[in-house]
Amino acid sequence: MIGAKGMLGRDLMGVLLSSLPNDEVFGWDIEDIDIQKEEDTVFKIEKLRPHIVINIAAYTDVDGCESNGEKAFAVNAEGAKHVALAALRCRAKVVYLSTDYVFDGNKREPYLESDFPHPLNVYGRSKWKGEQYVQELVKDVLIIRTQWLYGRYGKNFVTSILRQASEKRVLSIVNDQIGSPTYTADLAKAISVLIQFDAHGIFHVANSDLCTWYTFGQAILKLSGMDKVRVIPISSKEFGRPAVRPSYSVLNCQKLKKETGLALRPWSEALKDYLATYRLTISREGR
Ligand SMILES: NC(=O)c1ccc[n+]([C@@H]2O[C@H](COP(=O)([O-])OP(=O)(O)OC[C@H]3O[C@@H](n4cnc5c(N)ncnc54)[C@H](OP(=O)(O)O)[C@@H]3O)[C@@H](O)[C@H]2O)c1
Repeated sequence: MIGAKGMLGRDLMGVLLSSLPNDEVFGWDIEDIDIQKEEDTVFKIEKLRPHIVINIAAYTDVDGCESNGEKAFAVNAEGAKHVALAALRCRAKVVYLSTDYVFDGNKREPYLESDFPHPLNVYGRSKWKGEQYVQELVKDVLIIRTQWLYGRYGKNFVTSILRQASEKRVLSIVNDQIGSPTYTADLAKAISVLIQFDAHGIFHVANSDLCTWYTFGQAILKLSGMDKVRVIPISSKEFGRPAVRPSYSVLNCQKLKKETGLALRPWSEALKDYLATYRLTISREGR
């Protein structure tokens, strides 16, 4: 796996090591391989001769991608191409993680895998280009589109809300983007299931039910006993981030259920679970 030290990568490494006991699982990150470098990427992967290459490495700073489009495409698109070229030489399957931000949000009902992408921002365009390269180059491809990730490892919306709530009495949160917050622990299990089913093509994977960032923020504060903090709903325009986000990017995950029998639990249940673990971590650290 490439991107093994990221937020999803750490959870996915744990799940793969326990769910694939008969396979050797190697986790690489930027210190081991820089997927922007074609020759080096192909050399290192070819030397290992894997059956499956899981590429979840990415430049994931959505706003940063707007001002650094070159890096966005170098990592998310060309990088994906270099990994695919290596996999082609080893006749390996490629698993590539993609995003709801390949869609523009105009559909206003859950997006199917067959819906045609129309990304609104640089990050979405670079990830879509990555999808295209992988599909063009490799026969055995599994593309997993997901969204609104949070997890135990790394900065995310949940940790950001909790940090802000410990510093301020009033928070302003965007209320005009609709999606499904997804817990990396649940996503990691689903990826492992898809690999074990030897699934091919595109799959949408997210926790079920939908909300806005505002509703999600309120749930985080309530479940953490911090609901005295006032939350004000604001528009994306008022929030003023550099990258335009789709106002609706809910993913239809029926294909996952149909082909594997798996449906991810509602985001509110997953959040409860995550916060229980998170609180444990805080108390262990004595904060
Ligand atoms: N986070 C979300 O909400 C979200 C939503 C939809 C889809 N996704 C996709 O899901 C995947 C995992 O996301 P995540 O949030 O876990 O990402 P993450 O925490 O940013 O992890 C990505 C990892 O890739 C590494 N990386 C960056 N550039 C690299 C390069 N050139 N070569 C090798 N490794 C490189 C990063 O290292 P550094 O940290 O040192 O840069 C990091 O360890 C990504 O493909 C992302 O596009 C994420």
